[in-house]
Order: sequence, then structure tokens, then C-alpha cells
Amino acid sequence: MGEALDMKEDKAATTSSSRSLVQGKMSTRPWSLALVFISLFLLSLGASGFTRPAPGRIITTRHNKSESHPQQVHVSAVGADQMRISWITDDKHVASIVDYGKAPGKYDLSATGEHTSYRYFFYTSGKIHHVKIGPLEPDTVYYYRCGGVDDEFSFKTPPASLPVEFAIVGDLGQTEWTASTLAHVRKTNYDMLLLPGDLSYADTQQPLWDSFGRFVEPYASKRPWMVTQGNHEIEAFPILHCHPFEAYNARWRMPFEESGSTSNLYYSFDVAGAIHVIMLGSYTDFDSKSAQYKWLVQDLAKVDRWRTPWLIVLLHAPWYNTNTAHQGEGEAMRKAMESLLYNARVDAVFVGHVHAYERFKRVYDNEANSCGPVHITIGDGGNREGLARDFDEGHKTVSLSLFHEASFGHGRLSVVNRTHAHWSWHRNDESDSTVADEVWLDSLSASEACKIDPSLAYSGTTTKDEL
Ligand SMILES: *[C@@H]1O[C@H](CO)[C@@H](O)[C@H](O)[C@H]1NC(C)=O
Ligand SMILES: *[C@@H]1O[C@H](CO)[C@@H](O)[C@H](O)[C@H]1NC(C)=O
Ligand SMILES: [Fe+2]
Repeated sequence: MGEALDMKEDKAATTSSSRSLVQGKMSTRPWSLALVFISLFLLSLGASGFTRPAPGRIITTRHNKSESHPQQVHVSAVGADQMRISWITDDKHVASIVDYGKAPGKYDLSATGEHTSYRYFFYTSGKIHHVKIGPLEPDTVYYYRCGGVDDEFSFKTPPASLPVEFAIVGDLGQTEWTASTLAHVRKTNYDMLLLPGDLSYADTQQPLWDSFGRFVEPYASKRPWMVTQGNHEIEAFPILHCHPFEAYNARWRMPFEESGSTSNLYYSFDVAGAIHVIMLGSYTDFDSKSAQYKWLVQDLAKVDRWRTPWLIVLLHAPWYNTNTAHQGEGEAMRKAMESLLYNARVDAVFVGHVHAYERFKRVYDNEANSCGPVHITIGDGGNREGLARDFDEGHKTVSLSLFHEASFGHGRLSVVNRTHAHWSWHRNDESDSTVADEVWLDSLSASEACKIDPSLAYSGTTTKDEL
């Protein structure tokens, strides 16, 4: 599997090499067809070396071992010192058991967990196992096997204190572009991957969820992958299949109970004892009467910025976006929740949905605000739909946008110490990924000017005008 991926990487990298030469010329609206043709004509005359990026071919993966053999192994952090091992077997009789230890082949510890499965029209999933293991030591490699089958996996636990490095990538998919992105993610060490929604692009074809699970296993079995959901995870139809997120919730179970949430669609956790990460759901209720909103108010109230000086949020549909794709789709959620995040002095908000990269200034209520979060769109993981190339240079928030580019890639958030974090965006280039954008972030917890006013904090009812 690893070798197969590596072979695909070169191809994917070549197709993405032409990335940014024709930004803004790929609209599909009829009135702009003429423009497209004119652009193509001009390109054929002038732009030497331009090759149109190939379509994002899906790489499907198969399971060619026995029915009882574990597949789609991935791990996620639970609390300060546990890890959840999730995997699937076609055989329903395999026990939900994980053996693990600190030396290869020596599993002196063992844990039993739970299992689930789901049906989606004529599709029935395999047995989906979720086993919590621990307590585990920080920054330590553990070796493990699933269901008693001798196929060894290993992961490294996050460190107990800073520094810590996150890989952040949204709208991942399972294409040649995805393979290229993940190969670049793997090239440098990281502690945890954060994914702001749109995972498999199965789009109701359930076997593609299985294929995705196998596709990401070489990565997601080695480091905790913490995800939130996007529109491609909804997979509901009126009357025929009323339950949204069924495959997502069954397969990508996240530690929501541990943060007092009653839904797998929103939750929070701490990393390295210094970073509080909040995962929100763009496609579940978020108005001030909703369970998500109430949970968020309580979760923010529990954050002690002395103990966890960093506060970051991930969600799918951007609140700030100058791309013509998905304009305004995050606006209702922004209106409902932005003051909560602002009053809590959230440091950064990472989103996906738009298949491009964009970084904003610190903002609040559509204006630059040195006490607001930095908003970053990192929806360029490698989905099959292609890139969102059209940025609106006349957008009302264009003066807030500091950098944008429609290329595939991933982000890195390296939290160095209590006050400094380095953000970089790594575009998938031919050979090594290229750092195309980078910036140092100062934690708002260290800012005297942005000190939280206890009378305003977490109320959510205060708008900027009232301050
Ligand atoms: C099983 O799949 C892997 C990865 O796709 C491949 O390398 C291997 O040759 C396959 N084995 C068999 C017996 O088909
Ligand atoms: C935190 O890291 C930054 C960047 O490396 C450095 O300039 C600063 O001195 C560090 N602060 C402390 C308290 O070590
Ligand atoms: Fe999306």
C-alpha cells in the first residue's frame, strides 16, 4: 500500500505543477464561456509550458486479505492520555480487542472496546470497532495490533508540553492530488492531524468510505487524526434516508463525551496541556437556542487561558471568504457564533469547503480587529472536484484577505511556546512541498490590549457595536 501510494505521488505532483498560472479563468457559468475560450486561446498563444491540471482521478483501494483481517485502521486522541483505535472487519465475529505495548511484537497490554455498524440503502457496513487504550505515556511510540491479527501498527502519542506540531488539511478526498498532499504531510514529522471537514467524498457511495479508510490508513494509523464534518458527510435524503452523518458518525467517532458534548458533530480537546481545540459543526443547528451553541458557551467558559494559552477552532464552511465559490454559506453561523469566539479571544479559525488557500488578518464582524481570530481557509487537500480558482477582487472583505492561492497543499501550525506559533502553508510542488505562505502568530492570551472583560466573556449576546 505504501509503495503503491509512492508511485502515484510523482504523477500527482506533475499535474499540480501548473497550478496557479490561470487563476480566475475557470468559471462554469454560461455567460463566461466566451471568456474561457478567449483565455484558452490567449494561453495557447502565449503561456509556454502551461498544461491544464488533469482531473482528480480517484484512487480506489481494495481489501485483498481475509474477512477477519483488520482494515481502515485510524487513531484519535481521547482525553490527556488515551487513544481510540478504530478499524473495520468484514467478519462480524472478530472481537473488538487491541493489544499494545512499547516494543515491537511485545503487546503486554490489552483493551476491549465497542463496535457498531450501519445500513445505508442496500449497503451494510462491516463491523466498526472502537477501542480506547491507555493510560499512555506522552511523546511515546506504541505498537499495536487489532482483533488479535498479527499485522503490526504503531503510533506516536502527542507530547505533554509544547512545542507541538499540527498538520491541518481540509477537503481531503482520495485522488492523486490527495496522495500528493499526504506524501508531503508525511515528509516532516507532526504530532496530530486536524481536518476541518469533507473527508472521503463518498457522496452516498458507501464503498468509497471503505476505500478512503484504506487510503488514509498508512497515515491515520500512525498519528491521531482529529476531524470535524463537512457537507459531503451529510448523506441524507428526505424520507428515504433521514439520518444525516450516519457513515461519518459510525466510522469517525471523536471524543465528544469527554468534553461534555452530546454529539459527535462538535467537541473539544486539549493538546500538550497548552492548546484547547474546538471542533464545530457547520451543518447542524448553531443558533442561540441550539444544543451546539449552548455546549460552546459552556466549553468556552471552562477554558482557562493561563493553563491553555492557545485556543483554536475548526469548522467547515468559511465565515470569511473572498473566493466566488460558496459565498455566504457560512454567514448564518458567523452571525450566530462569531461574538462567542471573539469574546473568548480565539486565536485562529481553520476552515475548509472552498478548494483553495486563503489567509485573513485578525478580524471581527467584517472588520480588521487585533483581538479577533485569524481566519484561514485550508480546503485544498485534494478532493475530486478540483480547485476553486475564482477570487473576487472586488469582494467587500478583500482588504482583510492577506494571501490567497488556488493550489493543492496542506498547512502546519507549529505551536512553539505559550506566546508564539508559526503557521505555514505548503503547496504541493513537483519535488518538495514549497512553503508558499507563512506567518508568526502571537497568542491573544498574552495580549494586554485584548484582555478578556469578564462581564462580556462567553455571553455571546454582545456585538462589537455595544463594546
Ligand atoms: C494486495 O494489495 C496490495 C496493495 O494494493 C498489493 O500490493 C498486493 O500485491 C495485493 N495482494 C494480492 C495477493 O493481490
Ligand atoms: C517563544 O518563541 C519565540 C519564537 O521562537 C521566541 O522569540 C520567544 O522568545 C519565545 N518565548 C519564550 C518565553 O521562550
Ligand atoms: Fe465542503
